[in-house]
Amino acid sequence: MQKILVIGALGQIGSELTAAFNARYGKENIVVADIHEDTNHLFPDNVFEKIDVTDSSAIEQAIERHRIDTIVNLAAILSASGEKNPDLAWNININGLLNVIRLGVKHRLDRVMVPSSIAVFGPQSVLYDTPQETVLTPNTMYGVTKVVGELLGDYYFKKTGIDFRGIRYPGIISNKTMPGGGTTDYAVEIFYEAVKNRHYTCFLSSESCLPMMYMPDCIRATIALLEADRRLLRHCGNYNVGAMSFTPEILANVIKKYIPDFTIDYKPDFRREIARYWPASVDDSAARSDWGWQPEWTLEIMVADMLQAVQKKCR
Ligand code: NAD
Ligand code: SER
Repeated sequence: MQKILVIGALGQIGSELTAAFNARYGKENIVVADIHEDTNHLFPDNVFEKIDVTDSSAIEQAIERHRIDTIVNLAAILSASGEKNPDLAWNININGLLNVIRLGVKHRLDRVMVPSSIAVFGPQSVLYDTPQETVLTPNTMYGVTKVVGELLGDYYFKKTGIDFRGIRYPGIISNKTMPGGGTTDYAVEIFYEAVKNRHYTCFLSSESCLPMMYMPDCIRATIALLEADRRLLRHCGNYNVGAMSFTPEILANVIKKYIPDFTIDYKPDFRREIARYWPASVDDSAARSDWGWQPEWTLEIMVADMLQAVQKKCR
């Protein structure tokens, strides 16, 4: 793993994961790619490639031009946006992923990483401590694409030996780049509204309990799985990882400890129905035993850190 191409590098996770890659592996070894130009100059010192993940030849040219041996593909349409445009979600999440896998096989890449999501679960999955191996009947096109993505990664690993890896991320909370159209976005928006307006109207209901993770843990988990010894991995692209679980009401109550006049009300929309069948918590024992996963950030310390960062940004 010496030269990494990060596709979808300008999004919520990519903008921080790529920075972590730069610090760990050297920016000369990281090629940044996205369908959009880097107009915010997030990575002025990296080689940048404007690539649509559904364009196989563009990815192949980048692999050859930069002697890429690892691809991390973060390009995707998330759950809420995917319900508004399911065909687009299928095209980017599946055809993009297939391009990356096929080119990975053709060019004998060292490894390929594509995230999955808690959205793979559905009404027939257990709600608490959801096992890694269980019934997967998602109720969104996004979830369908994530199940298919996991299965494709597993299939090509068994047939071709391609080293496909991925984590079922929970909702990711961060303060560098805003989330891009997911059901868990409320858990980021709430901080900005609390700081700016002392009030938040939540699109989920007060009791929607979901697994969440703060970005520093997300980065640590991703790098740990990326660097893990393949011989110790019993799975490919479907590792459950847990960190914290809370409802909007619980999160609002912790924020109130720092902003006592903060108020929240609820106007649940279609995203409430998406969240209804996602787990409240996951069993991540496979990640813990295979590659040493251990979360560090709890709800309390995450809220304190988020408020500090968002207050600084909003000054
Ligand atoms: P995001 O929407 O913030 O970022 C996605 C990036 O991909 C954007 O920069 C976008 O411009 C780019 N992109 C979109 N279409 C593209 C295309 N056709 N070609 C190339 N680039 C394209 O998403 P994210 O939150 O950073 O998610 C990254 C990955 O993690 C996705 O696979 C997502 O499903 C998964 N995930 C995220 C979360 C979360 O809470 N953020 C949770 C579970 C799983
Ligand atoms: N955060 C993501 C979403 O809400 C979960 O995959 O879509």
